[in-house]
Amino acid sequence: MSRINILVTGASGLLGRYLLKSQRKHSLFLAKHSAPISGVLGFKEIKLDITKKGELEKVFSENSFDACIHAASIGNVDECEKNRELAFRTNAEATENLAKLCEEHATKMVYTSTNAVFDGRKNIYSELDTPKPLNYYGKTKLLGEKAVENASSENAVLRLNTMYGWNNEGERGNPATWCIQMLRQKKQIKVVDDIYNNHLYAGSAAEAVWKCIELKESGLFHVAGAECVDRYSFSVKVAEVFGLDSKLIFPVKNSFFKEIAPRPMKTCYSTEKMEKALKFKPLSLLNGLSLMKEEEQLLH
Ligand SMILES: NC(=O)c1ccc[n+]([C@@H]2O[C@H](COP(=O)([O-])OP(=O)(O)OC[C@H]3O[C@@H](n4cnc5c(N)ncnc54)[C@H](OP(=O)(O)O)[C@@H]3O)[C@@H](O)[C@H]2O)c1
Repeated sequence: MSRINILVTGASGLLGRYLLKSQRKHSLFLAKHSAPISGVLGFKEIKLDITKKGELEKVFSENSFDACIHAASIGNVDECEKNRELAFRTNAEATENLAKLCEEHATKMVYTSTNAVFDGRKNIYSELDTPKPLNYYGKTKLLGEKAVENASSENAVLRLNTMYGWNNEGERGNPATWCIQMLRQKKQIKVVDDIYNNHLYAGSAAEAVWKCIELKESGLFHVAGAECVDRYSFSVKVAEVFGLDSKLIFPVKNSFFKEIAPRPMKTCYSTEKMEKALKFKPLSLLNGLSLMKEEEQLLH
């Protein structure tokens, strides 16, 4: 594929960091909101608050994009429950506005959605299963999916499973970084053993996005890691790979935490479609966490 122009929203986030790390071929335009974006050498930055329709229109009138990777969102589930108006404007309304602009400008959109569109009452979810979000975050992301699908059949929706990897400083952490941080401080942690995911290494999520663009794939894809494990087992694996004390990790039930937003209990994916169409295999936890460990060693 020849070099194309791609608008990337959410470039300072976890997925954004791995998208930039793994891409040197195309011409990227990085939407910058409040946080600084690292790894931008050679890429163009554009100031953009996606909730401001006028700013979105200006960006499209001043630039020409072949594709848009939409990874900006309010992803904190409890924050979305508390601040519904902001969650709706960012995750649903802004996505719809962006999808309409992409359609008008013949820009292919790759939208990143979530396992939170499901209620978690099924063993394994495929792309054919009907979404039924339990929390407001899941509801707004599902509205985003619908807007992207309605705008053009060329668009792609990648439903990412819960991600892990190194986030940029000041940005949202994740189950792996939190566990590493706490265990390094020799703190005891309580982790739920009744919520299951096939956790996704953020580098694999980035690979799925690039494959989708390079292979010109459209439609809905579930993207996940290889094993369906509970959060406690995930944390024990993190401790093993990073040489930390797993005896500091204690299993509890989800009901132990008085969280604001309800969580789906089991949202593991079938990755058959991803493997066939996007031509890549789900990564094992051991391999994903080992890559994370190598990345940290490279930084020091
Ligand atoms: N992390 C996960 O486990 C997970 C799981 C499933 C799906 N996803 C989906 O994957 C995508 C990427 O998630 P992530 O975890 O990498 O995100 P993240 O680390 O939470 O980062 C969110 C990004 O969105 C940007 N953003 C927020 N509000 C914005 C606004 N009004 N205008 C422009 N940019 C704005 C943030 O920029 P500022 O910091 O500058 O505001 C940041 O770059 C999202 O669509 C998310 O829903 C994530």
